[in-house]
Formats: sequence, structure tokens, C-alpha cells
Amino acid sequence: MKSFQSPDLSVKIGKIKLKNPVIVASGTFGFGEEYQDFLNLNQLGAIIPKGISLTPMIGNAPPRIFETAGGILNSIGLQNPGFEEFTKKKLPFFQHVKSNLIINFFGHTKKEYIELAKRFDDIPGISGLEMNISCPNVKQGGIIFGSDPKMVYHLVYSVRKATKLTLIVKLSPNVTDISCVAKKAEDGGADAVSLVNTFKAMAININSRKPELGNVMGGLSGPAIKPIALRMVWEVSQNVKIPIIGMGGIMNAEDAIEFILAGASAIQIGTANLINPRTGIQVIDGIKKYLIQNKMKRIKELIGLFPNA
Ligand SMILES: Cc1cc2nc3c(=O)[nH]c(=O)nc-3n(C[C@H](O)[C@H](O)[C@H](O)COP(=O)(O)O)c2cc1C
Repeated sequence: MKSFQSPDLSVKIGKIKLKNPVIVASGTFGFGEEYQDFLNLNQLGAIIPKGISLTPMIGNAPPRIFETAGGILNSIGLQNPGFEEFTKKKLPFFQHVKSNLIINFFGHTKKEYIELAKRFDDIPGISGLEMNISCPNVKQGGIIFGSDPKMVYHLVYSVRKATKLTLIVKLSPNVTDISCVAKKAEDGGADAVSLVNTFKAMAININSRKPELGNVMGGLSGPAIKPIALRMVWEVSQNVKIPIIGMGGIMNAEDAIEFILAGASAIQIGTANLINPRTGIQVIDGIKKYLIQNKMKRIKELIGLFPNA
């Protein structure tokens, strides 16, 4: 009888070698340490902590989270301790974690993005950078960087030159043609794209006739967005050659496999972490089972197996 061999779940994103394609998404997994009592962090493919800016940000007025049908609205407002505090107080924890650490970062200007990329470049123990471009460009009237393909190209091109680390560009879904934006990120020198960030949305309390979020508008995430996110991943996969990291409403292994079939080389778990912190581990196990059931030796056989248009 042949000895049983567990399928090979490893994938490569730029220079990052992931032992499996399951990553926990920025903003939904704190700074890693908050989750250490619930799961073995070493089992995850990668961890992406809350997004970091050059200086601390206090975030938006409360309420910041509101539950909707099949999802949540959030308007955290990118609250974070800023580069200095993060590197001093939060980063050391990751020295003891064997999973890849991918840093999610953002700026208010192109200069800030470049400065942060340079600073992270010099720090050991970081596997790669995920650049959040769903942020307003204060130098250009507050237009969201990720909503203008030309701006995306110039931003990615400049940040690319500032770092040797693997550069993943995280795309905003609040655009007309996300595959066009993805192509601009690729042309600018991105090693990979991750998608999607949250969808701009809102809710109104009919009794108070006030918004449910302090900031009025926020971002929608969770199962409600999954079919749209999946469609976007599939569209982007037709238009770029670099690896895609898919996310948006992934709650279980079946959801993750859909994204992989649509062309994602890896996936991220976001909102699901807030319901069940062990979702990532369950997704890894479920993918493994699916490969065994379908007599596949490696996850690479599954990526993009869904037919092209
Ligand atoms: C509470 C919360 C905070 C988030 N913070 C960030 C962030 O700081 N940076 C970022 O790029 N994405 C952030 N996101 C977006 C998620 O990383 C993810 O792209 C999005 O929620 C879609 O995936 P999901 O449906 O699995 O949650 C946040 C999402 C939530 C729900």
C-alpha cells in the first residue's frame, strides 16, 4: 500500500514562500498577539496586522461597527499607533511567530507611502509589504489613491523603487473597472495584488433618523460581498500575470476554494476572524481535505482552474 502524503499547500507570492495560502487580513486580527490564545499562529500562511501610517491616527467617531444582513459596516478610520510605536511595541511579538509577517501600510501623500516603504525595508523579520491604496490623497483634494488608475501606476512605481521587499498592492473595489487598476499596479512594479478592500456603504437608524456609524459612511465586509469580490478576482485574473490574493466574505474552505478556482494564489480571512478566530485553521484543513478528495497532490493544480472567459 502507498504511504499517505499530505498535499502540498505551499505557494509563492513574489519572494514570500507561504506554507499554505491562508492569510489573516489587516484590521481583523489586531497585532497578532490578541489571537494567540485561540489558535496556533504558526500554522497560518501569513499574518497581516492592522494598517500602519507614518504617525499615529486616533480614528473616527463612534459607533464604528454596525452589523448588517450578511456582513458588517466599519468606520474604524484607520486608527493605529503609527510607525514608531508599532515597531517598538508591536513588532517584537512576531520574533516568536513562524508564520510570514506582511505589513499593511498607507499614507496620506505619495511621500508618506515612500517614506514608510523605505523604513520597513530596513527592518528584519518582515516578509513583505501590503500597500493599502484605499486612502485619500490629501495633496489632490482627497481623491482615493486606488480610484484613479494613473495615480495607482505612479504611486506603485515610486514605492517599488523604495523597497526590496515583496510589494503587494491592495485594491479598492470602489472603482468602475478593477482589472484596469490591477494592470496599472502590475505595470508600476507590484509583485502581487490583493483584493478586495471594503465596499463604501452606510445604514440609517429609522427611529433616530441618524446614521448607524459616527462617520455616516463606512466599509462593508463579510459574506454579503463575497459574490462581487469573487467576480472581481476572476476579472483581474484575466488581466494580470502577477499573483492575486483574494478576499471578501470568505467564511470557510468552500469559499476559499471558489477564490482559488477563480485565480487567487492565496486568500485572506477578514470578518470571519471576528466571529470565529480559528477560521483560518479550519480553512487550511478544509482545503487539504478537498485536494485529497479530488486526488490532487498540490494546491497549484487548483489555482485558476475555473475556465477563462
Ligand atoms: C474592522 C475592520 C478593519 C479593517 N482595517 C483594515 C486596514 O487597516 N487596512 C486594510 O487594508 N484593510 C482593512 N480592512 C479590510 C479587510 O482587510 C478586508 O479587505 C475586508 O474586510 C474584506 O474581507 P472580509 O469580507 O473577509 O472581511 C478592515 C476590515 C474590517 C472589517
